[in-house]
Amino acid sequence: MSLEGQDWVYSEKVKDHFLNPRNFLMGDESKFKYDAMGLVGNPICGDQMKMYIKVKNDKISDIRWKTYGCASAIASTSALSELAKGKTLDDALKITAEDIDNYLGKLPKHKFHCSVLGHEALADAINNYRKISK
Ligand code: FES
Repeated sequence: MSLEGQDWVYSEKVKDHFLNPRNFLMGDESKFKYDAMGLVGNPICGDQMKMYIKVKNDKISDIRWKTYGCASAIASTSALSELAKGKTLDDALKITAEDIDNYLGKLPKHKFHCSVLGHEALADAINNYRKISK
């Protein structure tokens, strides 16, 4: 694939979320008392994402994440964490990679796969929460 010009341009919102990631878990995971965690790897690039959620009354009351991912994964997951906080678990599961992409003002097309990482980690965390809270 040959990329040029606009293919490399990040929106201002992507840059903001990459440089000032929201709900990022800084340091040791023991600093955040979560109810469930999700972990996924991106088969395209090998990057990984961990998502931690606190749940209260079936809603995501708080959320943190960590990643070995790229700038697009960081921006996407920062956006996702903002979109998911306060939502019911069912509504959080309905957030799509396209929703994240739209929220950020579009990622470069060849970086769209990076937005899937946080999305899948959140789904994994919610599924794990449901397993342990039965
Ligand atoms: S290149 Fe791996 S998540 Fe973006």
